[in-house]
Amino acid sequence: MSGKRQETFDAVVIGAGAAGLMTALTAGQRGKRVLVLDHNDEPGRKILISGGGRCNFTNLRTAPDRFLSQNRHFARSALARYRPADFLTLVEKHGIAWHEKTLGQLFCDGSARQILAMLLDECARGGVTIRLGETIRDVRFSDRFTVDTDTLAIEAHSLVLATGGLSIPKLGATGLAHRLARQFDVPLVAPAPGLVPLQANIDDLGWMPALSGVSLPVRVQSGKTAFEEAMLFTHKGLSGPAILQISSFWKPGQSIRIDLLPDKNAFETLKNARTGRSRAHAVAVLSEHMPRRLAEVLGPRLLGEKAAAEWPDKLLRAAAETLKNWQFTPSGTEGYAKAEVTTGGVDTRALSSRTMASTTMPQLYFVGEAVDVTGWLGGYNFQWAWASGHAAGTAL
Ligand code: FDA
Repeated sequence: MSGKRQETFDAVVIGAGAAGLMTALTAGQRGKRVLVLDHNDEPGRKILISGGGRCNFTNLRTAPDRFLSQNRHFARSALARYRPADFLTLVEKHGIAWHEKTLGQLFCDGSARQILAMLLDECARGGVTIRLGETIRDVRFSDRFTVDTDTLAIEAHSLVLATGGLSIPKLGATGLAHRLARQFDVPLVAPAPGLVPLQANIDDLGWMPALSGVSLPVRVQSGKTAFEEAMLFTHKGLSGPAILQISSFWKPGQSIRIDLLPDKNAFETLKNARTGRSRAHAVAVLSEHMPRRLAEVLGPRLLGEKAAAEWPDKLLRAAAETLKNWQFTPSGTEGYAKAEVTTGGVDTRALSSRTMASTTMPQLYFVGEAVDVTGWLGGYNFQWAWASGHAAGTAL
């Protein structure tokens, strides 16, 4: 005898985060006996810090094209069967006040803690057992799964891997879902940090850190994908929503194109300054169109020290080109320590889009961020966690 507590459940869900709790409450409320295991001492730590503590819990503009995946139609089925309105119904049933910010993003008026409390309450209604602080030692399969922790020996018909991606190890992120996928011969798409700040290369590090804290609206593009949102200079490179968004599409070695004056024809703007403000210098002219600190750095670099009247067309064209089409080549990202999500993960070509189960091992499910489906910034990743969790919870 091992001395461990032996128990049997219909399903074990590993990971008490957004996707795991949604899977568990859905299955539990269908009458399934469900156990949720997590190695953290508290559930839903990412929910608690999300959206600056107010949890951007969904996005009204949810559509399959808001998600990256090697298999771009995969998310369609789950997203269609559990929509933002379904989650909102749950939120309202629990009396949680919410508001729409911009771009369809829904946040709690109060605290992200309310979303976690709601999920735990719904789990309790479904009779779900949650055991925290459990280190997973071994997972095996014969005709059913056996999961060993230091204190428990669990048997279950189904296993749901909801351990998320690799982002923010200090909150408890591990590659367990990826490791177990390999153990059970489920293929992976190489993971990478997503929604993450980009670092400047050695040349740009000479001038960019002085701009740390400066923010402005930009248009940023990588390949055919572009976002118009705010960009923030940091002491290491670039961040802000526009950069986080494009970072999920960026590949090492590529450059991204940044339009610092997205609403303007830069050449015409500078030419007009030459006639209309002939005695003004570059900093004064540029600071009418961008934050002054940025104008102070870019003005002399792009337009020199002479007054506007003395700017030749050739200089204006080169300056306008840099302002509209700055080719920024990051040296890398700030990595999993700073990434809001992980791109890649369990290859969806090996999963059922209706149930989230492995096509070769139908009792094994993967949900949430562990799967190769990554949302844009703005509540899409939680909507994927709810939708994929609901799909699995309905099927198992
Ligand atoms: P999640 O990471 O939530 O949960 C995984 C669980 O598995 C954790 O509880 C973890 O402890 C557990 N686990 C991991 N390894 C384990 C192991 N080896 N053994 C046992 N348990 C293990 N998204 C969004 O839509 N709106 C937002 O506002 C934000 N904000 C935000 C802010 C910050 C700072 C971050 C880092 C991320 C966001 N996100 C977000 C992204 C969002 O938090 C993320 O996509 C979801 O939490 C993913 O849900 P999962 O349940 O898949 O994983």
